[in-house]
Amino acid sequence: MGKITAAITGVGQYLPEYILTNDELSQMVDTNDEWIMSHTGIKTRHILKGEGVGSSYMGARAVINLLDKTGIDPMSVDVVICATVTPDMFFPSTGNLIADQAGCKNAFAFDVSAACSGFLFALTTGAKFIEAGTSKRVIVVGADKMSSIVDYTDRSTCPLFGDAAAAVLLEANADGYGVIDSILHSDGSGEMQLYMKAGGSRYPASVETVQNNWHTIMWDGHAVFKAAVSKMSDVSVEMMERHNLKGEDVRFLVPHQANLRIIDATARRMGITQDKCMINIDRNGNTTAATIPTCLFDYEKELRKGDNLILAAFGGGYTWGATYVKWAYDGEKA
Ligand code: UT7
Repeated sequence: MGKITAAITGVGQYLPEYILTNDELSQMVDTNDEWIMSHTGIKTRHILKGEGVGSSYMGARAVINLLDKTGIDPMSVDVVICATVTPDMFFPSTGNLIADQAGCKNAFAFDVSAACSGFLFALTTGAKFIEAGTSKRVIVVGADKMSSIVDYTDRSTCPLFGDAAAAVLLEANADGYGVIDSILHSDGSGEMQLYMKAGGSRYPASVETVQNNWHTIMWDGHAVFKAAVSKMSDVSVEMMERHNLKGEDVRFLVPHQANLRIIDATARRMGITQDKCMINIDRNGNTTAATIPTCLFDYEKELRKGDNLILAAFGGGYTWGATYVKWAYDGEKA
């Protein structure tokens, strides 16, 4: 028997109902639709409204959608891994809450924190449980309520982010479909380029941290932009070279959705035309760990068994990486 790989066998999603438009944002801060569209490619983003609802609320709904679509019994799921930078609480983990709310009572669950690369880190981790033969069904969720850490008086960050969750099911495959390879990187020296200063053990919440507005995203947008373009392109090209893939061999680039200009630059370096780039940043904005699985959800119907996908991300930390996936089913049946 050949090597066991972790095939993606289904995708689910949850998007909050409320849609925040560029026009509404321009009534909150000094910005406008023309600037946001030309600098980021974002038109709208979804925002989760309501008291006491966090990332697990969206994550559980994405998992329930996935279970409904695939007809999988929640009790048969062995592991739930949630990638998030906006957990409901420090503990218990958001994955734990999602597993409970979605009825995956037999699964063990935990979170992965790797910012915008979180989904790739979690997918790679989940695939290892399948490849090792210790788990038969693993659910990997990307869930982020970015509106909970965005400063809606800061025009340099507030247009960029949105809230969403999406999930994939991983199952064993003996025919070479699924997660083929991942190249992942971290560089903690980038910590001050994109971070949230307080709320952790370094600066626990206090009157001072709240007054100083240290519980929201801080960044050097320029530095992050430059690093994202070079690192995401380099690692994607490295993945293609490692597997002798040319631009025409790749059915879709599935890029993290931080800025349309970063996506375009990455695709150009890979020799991939824009029609082979999954894009939903215009509707969703940057939903951090949820960008890549929401793209898979949106494009699922166009995917065919055997399609080569390159998933690529860059995010705070810094963290970045690329994952090569051979798609395992015809999306039209989904
Ligand atoms: O997901 C993790 C990874 N995230 C990313 O990779 C995002 C990386 N960064 C970016 O996408 C871009 O750097 C931004 C979209 C954040 C900013 O785009 P930019 O082209 O680098 O703009 P900028 O910061 O250089 O600002 C250009 C001008 C400035 O005005 P002056 O100094 O030239 O007069 C800003 O004050 O645009 C101004 N500006 C705005 N104007 C209208 C900044 N934000 C806004 C705004 N509306 N929302």
